[in-house]
Amino acid sequence: MKAKIEQALNWRYAAKKYDPNFQLDAETLALIEKSLQLTPSSYGLQPLHFFWIEDSVLREKVKEIAWNQQQIIDASAVLVICAKNELDAAFLDAHADRMRDERSMEEAQIQGFRSHLHTAIGSKPQTDVKIWNSKQAYIALGQLMHTCALLEIDATPMEGFVPTALDELLQLEQQGLHSVLICTIGKRAEDDKYQHLKKVRRPLNSLFTKL
Ligand SMILES: Cc1cc2nc3c(=O)[nH]c(=O)nc-3n(C[C@H](O)[C@H](O)[C@H](O)COP(=O)(O)O)c2cc1C
Repeated sequence: MKAKIEQALNWRYAAKKYDPNFQLDAETLALIEKSLQLTPSSYGLQPLHFFWIEDSVLREKVKEIAWNQQQIIDASAVLVICAKNELDAAFLDAHADRMRDERSMEEAQIQGFRSHLHTAIGSKPQTDVKIWNSKQAYIALGQLMHTCALLEIDATPMEGFVPTALDELLQLEQQGLHSVLICTIGKRAEDDKYQHLKKVRRPLNSLFTKL
């Protein structure tokens, strides 16, 4: 397992060119969704929503917004990771309700957590909540990248797009969402020269300090 993880993390890279004929199977896509569902988040709130961009006309429009990156067209799957703009009382209560019900708790047992959620999140300015929610999207991205690597499926994380334009295209504001990241998923093209580049990473001793 240890060797497998290291091998997978070295195998993966941010693919620049995909095989346009490769299609992810339904079982793999379901596992990817499971991985995203199981991603941890602050308080377990999962303030996220994921859009699969399947329609070819829509993909063309997303590509234009995403700096014309060809991966948007050629990858088997294109995922837009969005975060909620705010966390209203109903959303917080729904989370506490779900936790109570899934864990067969009495309301009295969840009351402390419920009121803490309302106090902690209610006291944050909305702009802070929006940024906080966006950070949860990056955790999902990390988990997605790792899952894909272990499955030997290629994935390209993308911040290279105009978020306001993508929000408008997908009508995200009306849904209380904003786009944070795109991730293309599929199979690297045989002639994608980037797959042969040596990994460039800061040395471990400049990243870690033992105190
Ligand atoms: C948040 C984030 C945004 C990125 N945006 C893009 C992007 O828009 N287009 C792209 O081709 N690669 C993008 N990358 C890929 C990085 O350039 C790449 O991960 C980094 O150079 C390390 O190389 P490797 O992933 O191939 O090992 C992004 C990566 C991350 C984590």
